[in-house]
Amino acid sequence: MTNKYMYFIANWKMFGDLRTLNSLDKVIKFSKTNKKNKFKLIYCPPNILIRPLSKRLKNTNIEVGAQNCHESENFGPNTGYVNSKMLKNVGAKYIILGHSENRQDGESDKLINLKIKSAIKAGLKIIFCVGETLKEKKNKKTKKVLAKQIQKGLKSIKNKSDIIIAYEPVWSIGTGMIAKSEDLIKCVAFIKSKFSKKSPKILYGGSVNAKNIDKLKNVNNINGFLIGGASQNSKKFIDIIKKSISN
Ligand code: PGA
Repeated sequence: MTNKYMYFIANWKMFGDLRTLNSLDKVIKFSKTNKKNKFKLIYCPPNILIRPLSKRLKNTNIEVGAQNCHESENFGPNTGYVNSKMLKNVGAKYIILGHSENRQDGESDKLINLKIKSAIKAGLKIIFCVGETLKEKKNKKTKKVLAKQIQKGLKSIKNKSDIIIAYEPVWSIGTGMIAKSEDLIKCVAFIKSKFSKKSPKILYGGSVNAKNIDKLKNVNNINGFLIGGASQNSKKFIDIIKKSISN
């Protein structure tokens, strides 16, 4: 790992309730006693937990994010949805967009692009997920897929300074399989090459855990990790961070 400033983003998906928040005391203590280390912790819980979690994390340097939003900037008759302004209003500073689980539910690149634009307007920082399926990987389409997702997802967005890219191969999410270091290096370099000016921060996501982190942390140019399953357990999450920041 060449970069010192590392992100650890917890994607809780559709897990957790008010009681779960008690388990974060360990993480809060850990982050307070490790202030000198340059890492950033961000929790992305289900929407209903954003407010209580933000309150609990007041006076800590742990931040809160959301996992998705409606594309409209305005209030509207959209039953069951929330927009990025509403998420910001209850305490979110970041938002995951383009996650493969949402893409599988039918989210198009165009829709993701609209969501990213509305979230930038609302003042949220974007964690933009890209990644290929197993079939695409087998057909050697990874680069083509990544290029398309980036080009369409970020279409006509000039200021990309608040965008972090999370490279998450779909076949790796929740499966226990991780990308080979050499493939990861190539994909990260490819993603970087798609940005003419300053390259965004690039995270890796997909089955990251305390066992495989030693391998992953040595991949050059990765600025941190987007962690699903293992982030729901504070001890496992802390173990990943500890291992990542140790030499
Ligand atoms: P996982 O999920 O760590 O459980 O594979 C990662 C993600 O979906 O962001």
